[in-house]
Amino acid sequence: MSRLRLGVNIDHVATLRNARGVDYPSPVRAAELAMSAGCDGITAHLREDRRHISDADIEALTDITRKRGVPLNFEMAVTAEMEAIALRNLPHAACLVPERRDEVTTEGGLDLLGGFDRIAPVVQRLAGEGIRVSCFIDADPAQAAAARRAGAQVVELHTGAYCDAVRERSLEAPALLERLKLAAFEATRMGLEVHAGHGIDFETVKPIAAIPQVAELNIGHFLVGEAVFIGLAQAIRRMRLLMDEARAEASV
Ligand code: PXP
Repeated sequence: MSRLRLGVNIDHVATLRNARGVDYPSPVRAAELAMSAGCDGITAHLREDRRHISDADIEALTDITRKRGVPLNFEMAVTAEMEAIALRNLPHAACLVPERRDEVTTEGGLDLLGGFDRIAPVVQRLAGEGIRVSCFIDADPAQAAAARRAGAQVVELHTGAYCDAVRERSLEAPALLERLKLAAFEATRMGLEVHAGHGIDFETVKPIAAIPQVAELNIGHFLVGEAVFIGLAQAIRRMRLLMDEARAEASV
């Protein structure tokens, strides 16, 4: 089984900074620390309302990740403004996400079936500039097929529903995990690389990391929260260890 990559999302370091309107804690410093702790990529979401990451953060993150040779994954809504920013900064990857201003976080996957004509040209323009384009989707093979038709190379499966179910001790959790497994299997068969993310913590990471088709996890909120107690580097190293354990256990 291939090594699972860990992308660290540093958005919520910026949330904390912006709560005070000062210039610390710095998401760029957090990204530097995450890279030193051995993450495989940095993920940042420039939201339309700029509630956490700023335009200047994206420029600084583009610069430091390029210098360190670490991929930057730019999460973005499918808008002309975000497309222009992506094309200006040329990150390694762009993950297209749905965005509603009144949502607390990205609540569901992108509807590629409903929005195909709007989304596909954006996928193609970004991919045409050498950006690896990912679509953040619910665990639904029909959405993966539409992402493929649109020209995406990657789908990121939304793990939020499964992670919430585990935390709430819901009986739905096993079925939600099965849906993720099936979607990962089908998407890989379509020739897509599969990533997963949203809501992952130390408890939910192992069942998700054990899905053999998943190549990358993107994790943010839990790691930044855990950093308060054990430090960011330690939180990343523990997450990495759990991912490696899950992969090793799944391959015996
Ligand atoms: N992947 C995508 C596409 C996301 O939108 C987010 C949240 O910004 C994450 C991963 C990380 O989710 P979390 O912060 O819950 O770990």
